[in-house]
Amino acid sequence: MINKEQLDIERLPAHIAIIMDGNGRWAKKKGNPRVFGHKNGVAAVRDTVEGAAELGIKYLTLYAFSTENWNRPRTEVDALMSLLVNTINKETKTLLDNNVRLAAIGDIESLPSNVAANLRGAIDKTKTNTGLTLVLALSYSARWEIIKAVKNIAEEVKSGKLNVSEIDNTTFSNYLTTKEIPDPELLIRTSGESRISNFLLWQIAYSELYFTHVLWPDFRRENLYEAIADYQCRERRFGKTSDQVSEKIQSK
Ligand code: FPP
Repeated sequence: MINKEQLDIERLPAHIAIIMDGNGRWAKKKGNPRVFGHKNGVAAVRDTVEGAAELGIKYLTLYAFSTENWNRPRTEVDALMSLLVNTINKETKTLLDNNVRLAAIGDIESLPSNVAANLRGAIDKTKTNTGLTLVLALSYSARWEIIKAVKNIAEEVKSGKLNVSEIDNTTFSNYLTTKEIPDPELLIRTSGESRISNFLLWQIAYSELYFTHVLWPDFRRENLYEAIADYQCRERRFGKTSDQVSEKIQSK
């Protein structure tokens, strides 16, 4: 296991995104219903958020509920929604104590009204915090977000507010729900699956991907350190050659 002191504090990713996966399998392995896995996933969320805040990570985005998750059995969806409300209410104090600002991306309007209201309340209470920004992806999918951006851009072009020639990477990014959030340098997925599952497709163009077999309810800050240590061993080339990258580092 890696400990915090082994990380290069000067080269931390500013933004880490996590696909929390494996709650159902974790519960099944223990002979329990899937919801038991989600409940235990909350402890992993808490420890990861605290660990990230303590390290000085600026943004942590957690994929908590995808657009496609609405197709799960009604009882599981309802249980996840109750868990979200309870966790948000119970943990707002922890967020305040840790100087964490809460934010959300996704189709928040599609959430049950009590979930949306609680979420908005917690976002408001934590809005002046200056440490970690914890971004919950709720009723989120990247294709939903991209289509929404394309529609908004088309409307603005039609009404003459935007010229087609002005559309570039930066303009497009500004129409996404993540417009105030830098792209993640590191994307983690737990549970041994090596898929992106409709998460931040535009934003992860150059992210380093890290897959671990740990099931989400077992994930703790030490697992986060391990992912960061792995990230720190990577050479990020952004399409350049290795020689070009090392020349740039030497001339700094
Ligand atoms: C994926 O595991 C997990 C989810 C769809 C839900 C994640 C939710 C939590 C951890 C609880 C609440 C979160 C917050 C932010 C308060 P899975 O059900 O797909 O597992 P499986 O692949 O083993 O079936």
